[in-house]
Amino acid sequence: MQAFSAALKKEGKCIGLVPTMGALHEGHLTLMRAAKEKCDVVIASVFVNPTQFGPNEDFDAYPRRFEEDCRKLESVGVDAVFHPEPAEMYPEGYCTYVNVDGDITHKLCGAQRPIHFRGVATVVTKLMNITRADEAFFGQKDAQQVVVVRRFVDDLNIPVHINMVPIVREDSGLARSSRNAYLSPAEKEAALVLSRSLRKAKAAYNGGETNAEALKAIVTEEIQNEPMAVIDYVDLFSFPALLPVETVNEPCLLAIAYGLTVRVIPPWWQRSSLKTKVAAAVPLGALFLALFAAYILAWQSLQIPDTFLPTEHFFDLPFYVSQIRWALEGVGLGKPAWGDIPAGERLELGLGLLAAALLAAVIAGVLLIQALRKRVYKTVGKD
Ligand code: PAF
Repeated sequence: MQAFSAALKKEGKCIGLVPTMGALHEGHLTLMRAAKEKCDVVIASVFVNPTQFGPNEDFDAYPRRFEEDCRKLESVGVDAVFHPEPAEMYPEGYCTYVNVDGDITHKLCGAQRPIHFRGVATVVTKLMNITRADEAFFGQKDAQQVVVVRRFVDDLNIPVHINMVPIVREDSGLARSSRNAYLSPAEKEAALVLSRSLRKAKAAYNGGETNAEALKAIVTEEIQNEPMAVIDYVDLFSFPALLPVETVNEPCLLAIAYGLTVRVIPPWWQRSSLKTKVAAAVPLGALFLALFAAYILAWQSLQIPDTFLPTEHFFDLPFYVSQIRWALEGVGLGKPAWGDIPAGERLELGLGLLAAALLAAVIAGVLLIQALRKRVYKTVGKD
């Protein structure tokens, strides 16, 4: 890539860089088109940058679809794709980072993700150096990222012009984001509360409300009405300085980060507590034993013609205790053995155990569904 860029530079070409982490959507393609309009050659990078993810964040789960991404990039006429391996970008012994150590990285996303902007600044600096870009393109959706990138580009005298391209939304109003891939249809629906709350705040502002706290309260209240949404922050700062404001009488950034209680990505048995596992395992074990015993007993009993249904025993706990005792006796763990149990009782025993098995199945099913449906909180979006 460095040789490719050096050759372009020699020819005096204007190089545009669009850094991405892949899983491309219309928002990215809009960045590419903006770059195509302004530059002679457009290079897109596709690299899920490990240094910008904290230890409990979604680095592993982040969607990776390189083949599909390439097709999309080709469709908008991107000239080259840079898709390095993590070891190429951070080889053994790597120890140099770009740390934007100012107030702009300590608030909003920076407050929640302490190492995030260090990772972004480091990788973007490297990408700019590798591609020798003249112009770089970033989405307004990550407005704080744009502020941070502009800061270190200025501070380090990097000769790249930073372009901020407006947010691209789905028809529903949801801002396009690779992380939308995590959302089920119901969660996507719930996520609409973000754009809805912003529209409400905008309407209030257009109606004359300029008090920052009041505007934040409108957004907060709207989001709180959505049961699945959990607010990380609702903040309002001047833009691009990111300074606190009391009254909105200059360009401002009203930023929201929210989590949805989304279905977990790892399977439930990896994330559920020991208590949940035991709660699900006990009825499952009981179900297995009861089915097994019922099978033996029913099989034995079906040879007896005069049968009756033991419905009167369905809620009769001592009956089940006696059945279990008999079942143990039946498999030779006590006396009397099978032959000593009256024939009709053997069928009663079999059917009773079948009922117990069904009861255990229902309990196990409910517990399992609860465990599978158990939701964890994950930050999935910002607007
Ligand atoms: O916005 C992103 O996708 C990433 O933060 C970026 C700029 C590609 C750096 O990894």
